[in-house]
Amino acid sequence: MAFSASPQNCLQAMTQVNIRCCTPAPWSCGDEVMSPTDMWKGCIIATVAAVTAAIIIAFFIFSKAAVPPEMKPWEKYRLPATLSPQYYNVTLWPRLEMDTNGLYIFTGHSGVAFVCMNKTRWILIHSNKLNYILTPDGHHAMLTGMAGTKAPAIKKTWLQVETQYLVVELSEKLQVGKTYWLFTEFQGELTDSLGGFYRSEYYEDGVKRVVATTQMQPTDARKAFPCFDEPAMKAVFHMTLIHVPGTKALANIPCHDTKFEPTKKMSTYLLAFIVSDFDFIRAPQREKVLIRIWARRKAINSGQGDYSLNITGLLLDFFQYYYNTSYPLHKSDQVALPDFSAGAMENWGLVTYRETTLLYDPEVSSNEDKEDVVIVISHELAHMWFGNLVTMKWWNDVWLNEGFATYVSYLGASEAEPTWSIKDLMVLDVIQPALLVDSQGSSHPLSCLEDAINTPKEISALFNSITYKKGAAVLRMLSEVLSEPVFVKGLIAYLNQFAYGNTVYTDLWGQIQAVKLNLPATINEIMNRWTLQMGFPVVTIDTQTGRITQKLFLLDPDTQLGRPSSYEYEWFVPIKWMKNGTNMGQYWLLNETDTHLSMKTNNKWVLANLNISGFYRVNYDSQNWQRLLSQLTTDHTAIPIINRAQIIDDAFSLSRAKIISTTVALSTTKYLSKETEYVPWESAVRNLNHFSDMLEQTEVYDAMQVNKFQIKAYLYNQINAISLGCKTGVEGCMNLTSMWYNKWMENPSKNLIHPNLKATVYCYAISIGGDAEWEFGWKMYKNATIAAEAKKLMSALSCTRKPLLLQRYLKYTLDPNMIRKQDVAFIMAHAASSVVGRTQAWNFIRANCYDGFYSFGYIICSTKINASPRIHPQLQQFRDEIASAGLESTVWTVDQQIERTKANMKWVAENKEQIKKWLTEESA
Ligand SMILES: *[C@@H]1O[C@H](CO)[C@@H](O)[C@H](O)[C@H]1NC(C)=O
Ligand SMILES: *[C@@H]1O[C@H](CO)[C@@H](O)[C@H](O)[C@H]1NC(C)=O
Ligand SMILES: *[C@@H]1O[C@H](CO)[C@@H](O)[C@H](O)[C@H]1NC(C)=O
Ligand SMILES: *[C@@H]1O[C@H](CO)[C@@H](O)[C@H](O)[C@H]1NC(C)=O
Ligand SMILES: *[C@@H]1O[C@H](CO)[C@@H](O)[C@H](O)[C@H]1NC(C)=O
Ligand SMILES: *[C@@H]1O[C@H](CO)[C@@H](O)[C@H](O)[C@H]1NC(C)=O
Ligand SMILES: *[C@@H]1O[C@H](CO)[C@@H](O)[C@H](O)[C@H]1NC(C)=O
Ligand SMILES: [Zn+2]
Repeated sequence: MAFSASPQNCLQAMTQVNIRCCTPAPWSCGDEVMSPTDMWKGCIIATVAAVTAAIIIAFFIFSKAAVPPEMKPWEKYRLPATLSPQYYNVTLWPRLEMDTNGLYIFTGHSGVAFVCMNKTRWILIHSNKLNYILTPDGHHAMLTGMAGTKAPAIKKTWLQVETQYLVVELSEKLQVGKTYWLFTEFQGELTDSLGGFYRSEYYEDGVKRVVATTQMQPTDARKAFPCFDEPAMKAVFHMTLIHVPGTKALANIPCHDTKFEPTKKMSTYLLAFIVSDFDFIRAPQREKVLIRIWARRKAINSGQGDYSLNITGLLLDFFQYYYNTSYPLHKSDQVALPDFSAGAMENWGLVTYRETTLLYDPEVSSNEDKEDVVIVISHELAHMWFGNLVTMKWWNDVWLNEGFATYVSYLGASEAEPTWSIKDLMVLDVIQPALLVDSQGSSHPLSCLEDAINTPKEISALFNSITYKKGAAVLRMLSEVLSEPVFVKGLIAYLNQFAYGNTVYTDLWGQIQAVKLNLPATINEIMNRWTLQMGFPVVTIDTQTGRITQKLFLLDPDTQLGRPSSYEYEWFVPIKWMKNGTNMGQYWLLNETDTHLSMKTNNKWVLANLNISGFYRVNYDSQNWQRLLSQLTTDHTAIPIINRAQIIDDAFSLSRAKIISTTVALSTTKYLSKETEYVPWESAVRNLNHFSDMLEQTEVYDAMQVNKFQIKAYLYNQINAISLGCKTGVEGCMNLTSMWYNKWMENPSKNLIHPNLKATVYCYAISIGGDAEWEFGWKMYKNATIAAEAKKLMSALSCTRKPLLLQRYLKYTLDPNMIRKQDVAFIMAHAASSVVGRTQAWNFIRANCYDGFYSFGYIICSTKINASPRIHPQLQQFRDEIASAGLESTVWTVDQQIERTKANMKWVAENKEQIKKWLTEESA
């Protein structure tokens, strides 16, 4: 799956998981996954080296959570290992018209052939929200033996709602090694829930169109038909879709005459079927693989699918070459859906997308939109092998699946668009956000024990930015350490060995280890330190003595770590480094501290973590910081581009953690007037924005307004200039944006604003404008036929500073005819992230959360509360309200936010004088 493309990490997981408002959301700020109790249970705590008090507590919780022996099989969330599915015959008939009860339904029947592996009197098969047509005997299912086997009689059947099973109890046990056939007939609803077999709606030429489509990952295939819904229960599927003439039916495999071919052996979560009125374009005939892009007719006819079609062939070729394995299927369909919860989903052979991640219009979409498209498609196609051909045994290893696809999506995208330096963007999109989330006490280890992840909610909670981004960063580090050819050699062996099967992550390490390696420890020993404990180190290099030390890096030094680690928060750290411009190769830091005399330099600068190949931050003695700053000012090109970005990001983070002074951090931006590269600039802009958010309600803010950052930024590039300039109230910038917008209002069919500037211009024009600007924006939003344009307007509408307009907009989010459910969370978070909208959005969330559709813990963590003393009492009050409503894990989220606010307030109090002084001196 790919996250939906939205600015904040926090926001991303939310649209994805789609938990209803006010169900205890397992998130917390910065995207942490579980409540503290779940954490203990959840992640590998120790291979039990030391018995600390904390571990004793952990065991206590473990034993409480342990399964009591008398638990019945249907009370457990995991399937017993008694039955193994071979193939299914599934027929589904979705109705695209409302029935007499006002519902959209589907009907179907399904048979599954399974082998008995272990004697049992019970058949447990997943089923959720399906209504069954009972047999004449009053049972939910019929059982027959295959190949001459006699099936035992059914004693009774029932639905176990909590654990989502259909349970069939037999009069006698099934025989080991025999095959049986279980047949059911059922009916379900095509809801607008964005999960299982669901419906999406849109209007074309004033006519409402309905699409029946699916989103199975992680545990919703069971809403479409009864199935053994775990990734290791691979089987072959014979699909039949009934649909009226004029509509088109798609599934994972090609359709011949009226029948789909049988699928390859595959997991249930990768199934997809779609009945729609969509149109398609196809690539010129290629050897064996049919490539098509599907979307609304208008979108296809206006060429919005052309870009995706252009790059899909290139990407498939790249991955066939990279994995040294041909594409496993005969077709590749990709479909853009008007309603879709995640960013995209890698269903095997039938990948589904949000419109914004598949469709592209050169007239309207920005460069950033185009980047999103190529990166997301690359991510999904990477899964066709890694994830689909070879699949994790259980969801606890989903970090390997998603981290890997995230990593290689940049390699693929860079092949498709070789001139964009896409690999460098990984620093901004993936590595820096991962470092940020993983430096908070509430982070968690990448890898969890299989036993710790059982319920659908626990599974969904794993789809977070640690899984995707830290997973990717750590795999990239492994590849950098080994060199790409060695890494890929192990990878290819892994795919060959386990094709059509299931694995645990150590299977990949095993195949890599088998390639001849020259490392200080085994892959397992090295990687365990990065995957089994949360966080990462800050490496400090003292060039006066050559001493190198490592220490867990925490943004807030007062964080109380609740969790011990059997590796005691130490890592095997690969350090590629450079001395005064000369590459010094790789050094391994294997202990808490070490001395490496060649790092003792008298007057040469040392730069560590070349190419950001490692997942850590670097600090130096103050002389070396000064030498680096002076190198940046005299000739910044002696330092590689992404390291320039990282020096800035490390320095600002170290100053937030009170490890170095804010003056050093601010000084890393002094050379920027000479910087012409995007990545270092963007890194600086993000960090300065954070500063300005924190200082928003202090007198220092005024100093920032006249500071020359903005003026420099102006010179640098239009987007940053307009965005920073308007943010700090530069008058010319405001005038410019309103002028462009007003011209568009005068002539709505002629929008002359450059695509790359639209998001910024719309937002500022609406924020300084009044009713007319907002109304116009809303009208254009509803009229937009291009998803990328709609998304920009949608964000901009929440930029208004008029309380009545904002209130109206917030109310629209409760009505799916006004705002699609897939977008509600995005709007809420966007509204709550501005100073003006914050309080109002908050009050709205508080007042309406009980019938909204967004996850609420999630919105709390995506709002920028920062250092505002005014918000603090509100948060406290809010906390008390939800505590009395019994929403415990949300309380935990709010507590985290309160902690953060306090830490931020403290930081501002301690640093504002220093910052003010620096700004005043620098502006003089
Ligand atoms: C069969 O059941 C026994 C007893 O519960 C268990 O030890 C064994 O692992 C099971 N075998 C399989 C293949 O699940
Ligand atoms: C399942 O469908 C396949 C393909 O249509 C057919 O050959 C097979 O007989 C069916 N199996 C059963 C048990 O109905
Ligand atoms: C797709 O490729 C064709 C042929 O190379 C090119 O003319 C066209 O501009 C491309 N379309 C897009 C949207 O990139
Ligand atoms: C560092 O490198 C620069 C450029 O190669 C060189 O001019 C300078 O002398 C070097 N400094 C030292 C101290 O070696
Ligand atoms: C440092 O690490 C090496 C290799 O793991 C080990 O042999 C050595 O004893 C360690 N030294 C200290 C001081 O811990
Ligand atoms: C902005 O617009 C106002 C009012 O139209 C005008 O007075 C002012 O001079 C303009 N400022 C700039 C920098 O163009
Ligand atoms: C709405 O969109 C249609 C088709 O894109 C366009 O012809 C029409 O001018 C738009 N309406 C307005 C008010 O801009
Ligand atoms: Zn994915």
